[in-house]
Amino acid sequence: YCVKKVTEDLTWVGANDRRLSMFEGVYSVPNGVSYNSYLLLDEKTVLFDTVDKSVSEQFMENVEHVLSGRRLDYVVIQHMEPDHSATLAELLRRHPETTVVCNKMIADMIKQFFNLDITPRALIVKEGDTLSTGRHNLTFIAAPMVHWPEVMVTYDTVDKILFSADAFGTFGALNGAIFADEVDFDRDYMDEARRYYTNIVGKYGAQVQALLKKAAALDIRTICPLHGPVLTGNLGYYLGLYDTWSSYAAETEGVLVAYASVYGNTKKAAETLAEKLRGLGCPAVKLVDLARDDMAEAVADAFRYTKIVLASPTYNGDVFPFMRTFVEHLTERNFRRRTVGVIENGSWAPVAAKTMKQMLENSKEITFAQPTVTVRSAMNAENEAQLSALAEALAK
Ligand code: FEO
Repeated sequence: YCVKKVTEDLTWVGANDRRLSMFEGVYSVPNGVSYNSYLLLDEKTVLFDTVDKSVSEQFMENVEHVLSGRRLDYVVIQHMEPDHSATLAELLRRHPETTVVCNKMIADMIKQFFNLDITPRALIVKEGDTLSTGRHNLTFIAAPMVHWPEVMVTYDTVDKILFSADAFGTFGALNGAIFADEVDFDRDYMDEARRYYTNIVGKYGAQVQALLKKAAALDIRTICPLHGPVLTGNLGYYLGLYDTWSSYAAETEGVLVAYASVYGNTKKAAETLAEKLRGLGCPAVKLVDLARDDMAEAVADAFRYTKIVLASPTYNGDVFPFMRTFVEHLTERNFRRRTVGVIENGSWAPVAAKTMKQMLENSKEITFAQPTVTVRSAMNAENEAQLSALAEALAK
């Protein structure tokens, strides 16, 4: 077993996966991922969520170790995405005595995923319902679309703990420590937290804002998410980050220059712009090659910085494929409130700039920095001047 105490009577019984290549089949996780599950030993015993099937064996061992022969009275299911629910059916086979605490939509999803009617052993709860387990009192709070429609979170009114489901989660496995304030969070988890938020939850800013409003009415001392470290200490810091991200405000003054390039000429224009930006005192400039670099990180950086520049060749009468994918990732996550610069390349019929702008035309509060730069095959003196003008517009 491998467990960690969160409080005297609450224990982390989750597990880390360091072998997974792509989370949800889409997002690379070079630092692994943790699937958190928490077991409360009160007069009644309560398990909060289960884990992904890849770590099922470790999880079952952890649960049995902490129960140490006691019955499992309740399992609270807050989110039915299989990274948390895949081991539920097996858990219920091992613990026929357990009551499943969930809302109606979760019960319906349990039927869909496992062909299992849990009605006879379910305690169906709704917004504001409570459950006393002895010393502890649990309140259930709906958090629809953070990150699926059935999601609920749970507040322990006695120890002031918010079990927050996917909210406040991060990519990155746990490295021995369970609490964010035991590690250098900014160094070790911040980029992963942003990458996780933007890519997984980014589309649902309005729903995250709704949850933050509900959370603001509670006295929260500890946040137990389903991925990554348990948050204690300076909670205002994490709540502030979530408020920034979910309101689509930029976090860092600076420019992301995202480019795709076939023979290096578009790359040269992107790098020339980056040099000019730095020369004008722009505090942060980041270049990414969309064909090679981590797409999820590029998406997170687009949400992080105040401004972005898209630089793409024209390809098959369209924008370059990796650029198309990148802009689609942005628009489907409600990318907004940003200044965008555009550089295109085309040897005979450049259309990349027009296409990229069209792709962003339904995005709210987007300002295009001028001028749009058109490179014809390779940079010339006119392009050099245009890039200087674009750099000055962006550095303002
Ligand atoms: Fe970690 Fe939406 O599942």
